[in-house]
Amino acid sequence: MATRKLQTSFRSSPNSPALVLYRCFSDDFHKRREKGNNSEVRKEFRNVTSFYYQSAIDAAAMQPSVRLTPAAILYSGKSADRSHILRSVQYLHKELPVRIAHRINGFRNLPFIVGCHPILLSVHELYIRAFHILSDFGPIRDLEQEAQWSETLRNLLDDHKDVVTRLAEGFSECRKYVNDEGLIKTFLDRTLTSRLGIRMLSEHHLALHDEKPNHVGIINIAFSPRKVVEKKAEFIRSICEAKYGVAPNVKVNGHVNTTFPYIQPPLDYILGELLKNAMRASVESHLHGNGIPDINVTIANNDHHFVFRISDRGGGIPAKIVNKVFDYNFTTSGSLVDDKVDGGLFGQIMDTGNTGPAPGKMHGYGFGLPTSQAYAKYLGGSLTLESLEGIGTDVYLRLSHIDGRSESFRI
Ligand code: ADP
Ligand code: COI
Repeated sequence: MATRKLQTSFRSSPNSPALVLYRCFSDDFHKRREKGNNSEVRKEFRNVTSFYYQSAIDAAAMQPSVRLTPAAILYSGKSADRSHILRSVQYLHKELPVRIAHRINGFRNLPFIVGCHPILLSVHELYIRAFHILSDFGPIRDLEQEAQWSETLRNLLDDHKDVVTRLAEGFSECRKYVNDEGLIKTFLDRTLTSRLGIRMLSEHHLALHDEKPNHVGIINIAFSPRKVVEKKAEFIRSICEAKYGVAPNVKVNGHVNTTFPYIQPPLDYILGELLKNAMRASVESHLHGNGIPDINVTIANNDHHFVFRISDRGGGIPAKIVNKVFDYNFTTSGSLVDDKVDGGLFGQIMDTGNTGPAPGKMHGYGFGLPTSQAYAKYLGGSLTLESLEGIGTDVYLRLSHIDGRSESFRI
């Protein structure tokens, strides 16, 4: 009876990990276990023990991760015999299981009521699976083995592309049981930035195989801040037009001709989120007026940092909520009608622009600002905003250069 209730409330399948967990702790389970060598019971027990008894994961989680500066990645050299690809895979082959084990530890340390949510348990399981797939792969000594490993990695990146959406969905359902907001923020900041690092290193390794003009792996050596703003603005405008029928223009000013080496994919994500917020506010506050005011993006580049200021005239953020906008799951979108958190876009970090506009993806689970702020900090920068209530919002995204001339963040 209790099992059926739990099943209905979670709308999950009878074999969802949460129910399996529940059954294993129930009296009924122990009675069935005592009765005989029931294979169904053994299977359930094995499923549950996979969350608890994992000596390989425990051992990997004890090891520190080895983080690299972007300059070290950029200048690690390219050799005609492709030995740079072999060096890269040997580092990742050792490093990824350690980082994934750290993520599994994060799930294990969540409060019970949160960690048992079916969606969060399914993400936890996904990481356990990835750990075993990657750590069961034997030593990589030649390019043939490297190609097999890279194919495995490519599949895992695809299997994990909706992790942010699933975390957002899971937390939106169960965070009401947790009083300590900091606990959720610490977990999500760590999980999402560590995932960003894992995906950047993985995509970089896969991209080392390609010859793309001006690129070393995922590093664009002639990165243009103006071009990325224009590209994202065009993409978000098409989503905005599909949803509202109109979209504001985006004007870029400041250091518009500057170029330098940078890792573009995380910036595609962050700028996409910020432009979406600015467009949504601009349109929603002018739906019954004459025209929608432009959004102005100013680029400033100096020796250590570069900055984007995104200014909209979307009415600003009311004082009573301005302190909450960087909390995970805080949104004024009203309903969770958007089918995916746009962290989902980052699921395909290398081709965010090609996924095509999807109507109704202008806002969602309140993950855009907190995730972007966590990414900006991870990348040695910051994300802050100033709201002029009644007028509009200025958002400042400040990021560190990766050319190795000043102290750098590590991936
Ligand atoms: P979402 O877009 O899914 O709601 P975000 O984390 O991106 O999540 O934003 C959280 C909330 O912050 C938004 O719902 C909105 O109320 C507010 N907000 C963010 N940017 C702006 C802006 N430029 N102008 C007005 N309100 C904003
Ligand atoms: C993720 O995208 O969640 C990852 O950690 C990727 C990894 C399994 C290769």
